[in-house]
Amino acid sequence: MKKEEAVKYVESRIKPRKRTEEDSEYRKTFSEVFDDSTVMAIYGLMSRGYIDIVDFPISTGKEGNVFRGLDKKGNNIAIKIYRIATSNFRKMALYIQGDPRFRGITKDRRKLVYRWAGKEFNNLERLMAAGVRVPTPIAQRSNVLVMEYIGTEDRPAPLLKDADFDPEKAYRFTIDSMRKAYKDAKVVHGDISEYNILVNGDEFVLIDVAQAVHLKHPSAEELLVRDAKNVARYFGKLGVETDKDKILREVRG
Ligand SMILES: Nc1ncnc2c1ncn2[C@@H]1O[C@H](COP(=O)(O)OP(=O)(O)OP(=O)(O)O)[C@@H](O)[C@H]1O
Ligand SMILES: [Mg+2]
Repeated sequence: MKKEEAVKYVESRIKPRKRTEEDSEYRKTFSEVFDDSTVMAIYGLMSRGYIDIVDFPISTGKEGNVFRGLDKKGNNIAIKIYRIATSNFRKMALYIQGDPRFRGITKDRRKLVYRWAGKEFNNLERLMAAGVRVPTPIAQRSNVLVMEYIGTEDRPAPLLKDADFDPEKAYRFTIDSMRKAYKDAKVVHGDISEYNILVNGDEFVLIDVAQAVHLKHPSAEELLVRDAKNVARYFGKLGVETDKDKILREVRG
């Protein structure tokens, strides 16, 4: 298939595109997310059946957009697309440099974003293997990551900060996840907070793991301490008896 035909095909399978016909502001955001190379990455994922339809947007963040989608079999999926134009390259470079999983640096911004998405995929695989509840990684190509969708048919699971939950249970989940990540997956999440844990019925799911670094990364310890501080502060306010040092002892074992 020629490139123009591929682009046409993919665009016909992207539901939010309909809105671009009447809304010029939306059209701008849309073309920022779905640039030609992103569309070709989606095309590759479509030809392998990982994506059939890109459905409604779940979230529009600083660096990426998350969409609900369907795979070829009709299962719900979550599609995270890192925008090339508006990514935080400095931060990405700092987290990638010093991680033994990545040899050599790249000055190519596009390639850096691709690595970032690949890093999130690899972190999801490691964390899942270590028994941490994360969305199951399904596929990744360039700046596009396909993973298990967390939520119901009607709506994606809410963030911890917006949900009703038992603080002790959520605390347990958080500490157990940190420990398994550290001990078995050999990574530190680096951005654990009430913004990166989903509440799906009675289960918790840890998300947003792109920045998680290998324990050998020079900033790993510093990030672990920062995570412990944030977790202690948040759950302390909810009445859980904890502090940073107690968390660090539990995580390091
Ligand atoms: N697998 C998933 N299933 C359902 N919803 C998801 C999934 N992954 C992410 N989300 C939703 O998308 C939002 C953004 O995802 P994520 O936290 O991974 O990206 P981000 O890079 O932190 O974006 P932001 O710039 O908004 O912080 C989440 O807050 C959550 O609401
Ligand atoms: Mg997030």
